[in-house]
Amino acid sequence: MWSFTNIEKEPVRVLVTGQIGYAIVPMIARGAMLGPDRPVILHMLDIEPAAEALKGVKMELIDAAFPLLKGVVATTDVVEACKDVNIAVMIGGFPRKEGMERKGVMSKNVSIYKAQASALEEHAASDCKVLVVANPANTNALILKEFAPSIPEKNITCLTRLDHNRALGQISERLNVHVGDVKNVIIWGNHSSTQYPDVNHAIVTTGNGEKPVRELVADDRWLQTEFITTVQQRGAAIIKARKLSSALSAASSACDHIRDWVLGTPKGTWVSMGVYSDGSYGIQPGLIYSFPVACAKGEWSIVQGLKIDEFSRAKMDATAEELIEEKSLAHSCLN
Ligand code: LMR
Repeated sequence: MWSFTNIEKEPVRVLVTGQIGYAIVPMIARGAMLGPDRPVILHMLDIEPAAEALKGVKMELIDAAFPLLKGVVATTDVVEACKDVNIAVMIGGFPRKEGMERKGVMSKNVSIYKAQASALEEHAASDCKVLVVANPANTNALILKEFAPSIPEKNITCLTRLDHNRALGQISERLNVHVGDVKNVIIWGNHSSTQYPDVNHAIVTTGNGEKPVRELVADDRWLQTEFITTVQQRGAAIIKARKLSSALSAASSACDHIRDWVLGTPKGTWVSMGVYSDGSYGIQPGLIYSFPVACAKGEWSIVQGLKIDEFSRAKMDATAEELIEEKSLAHSCLN
């Protein structure tokens, strides 16, 4: 039986749904998600019209001769796809098309996530770890949680690591420092334009030790306006430029999310993950909300005790409000 700590290095079964799968599967097969010595078996699920393309991806995976890749299941059958998976990366969803109302997209995705939740509930490994990427990511994850009650709630998360990485990138560009020297930004709340990217506790490693980002940037106005909106709107900016939504950065960040969750975060650092709120920082329980988390032994825990100023409080509450509305919209779509 596979466990995060076993030394025999049993293959891990990783499910990837949807089309940015094309960007993430080579990363997983190269060890970017689970480490360079962990074999993987990839399960790829897509919809019927994409069945031929999916066969092509399987052929390419074989052709790439990844030493860690011990098998590929490429299917349009959700039951076959979910069978015994240890990790599920849920990227597939119904994209918003021109002229569609938010409620229309929500209702399609909520139904998809309800169906996939049932398949995971019945067929995945009982300790399967789930990462929802498809939008609205937090609310899709919440629906998945509600319809897969036997998967522990701590195992159902959504991606805000992409926003976290975007925030690191913006600070690194602004200060002209290496992105690897910036740490402990926080994304609070929803993976949407109400998210709150917070640098109040962020640090840069310099030649003279660690320095707070606030001290190095020394331009509160930029931090409270342009920085925040750039991170909030980055997904839309990429769609505008590429005419497609982010794929390589989303795939890479999804690998970061799972890798840190499974293998742990370095001492004194944290990352952002959308997780089931336990009421920490006054956020209503029962939402999937992005918090700062530290990970060890395959478990995340919310970093406690960070000081929250008035500016942050208002922004954290505003994004929570949006999630409360999305939750009730999702439930109304299901009824
Ligand atoms: C992103 O943040 O890049 C995506 O969630 C944007 C989108 O709406 O697809």
